[in-house]
Amino acid sequence: MTRPLPEGYAWLSDEIQEVLFSAEMLQRRVAELGSAISIDYAGRNPLLVGVLKGVLPFMADLLRAITIHVEVDFIAVSSYTPEARERGIVRLVKDLEMPLAGRHVLFVEDVIDTGLTLSYLLRNLRARQPASLEVCALFDKPAHRLIGIPLKYKGFDLPDRFVVGYGLDYHERYRNLPFVALLRAQVLG
Ligand code: PRP
Repeated sequence: MTRPLPEGYAWLSDEIQEVLFSAEMLQRRVAELGSAISIDYAGRNPLLVGVLKGVLPFMADLLRAITIHVEVDFIAVSSYTPEARERGIVRLVKDLEMPLAGRHVLFVEDVIDTGLTLSYLLRNLRARQPASLEVCALFDKPAHRLIGIPLKYKGFDLPDRFVVGYGLDYHERYRNLPFVALLRAQVLG
């Protein structure tokens, strides 16, 4: 393993193949993103909008790295059926509580893969007439991109591999890891 499992996680060595981003690397980059957002949105009281559930750790850390007034809201979508996925359709299972009209909205995502989820949600949110609408994604996985996404803030590029941790799951597990890692092939089955 090039980057060893941190203390307390040796029990995961049968499941984790490699740590790609340590907790320190993630925290450093999130702090940089928070600083940039604080400067760019000064005096604009931005509304951060996150898609549940993978965004939770990133959103929690990003909020605390922002040093201006900021508000937060969440949206939840259902997983795609294969047919809906092809048509780029996502079902909202929890809508935002706050109105967006006239607000400076920053859409926060953990990972952008095909771009279909975000593309659908951006269309949906744009129709609510925010004053501005930008995207901040911690991870960009460009290998499978089907649709262009304008990214204002990006944490890291991800290789075309299945990764878990810091919100990213495999069958709902591993979201709680403070680092991001590759799973061993035998875990993926
Ligand atoms: C992930 C991520 C995005 C979406 C990106 O969510 O949070 O919402 O996939 O994929 P796309 O670019 O191919 O549309 P996921 O469906 O894994 O749900 P989760 O956040 O609850 O884990």
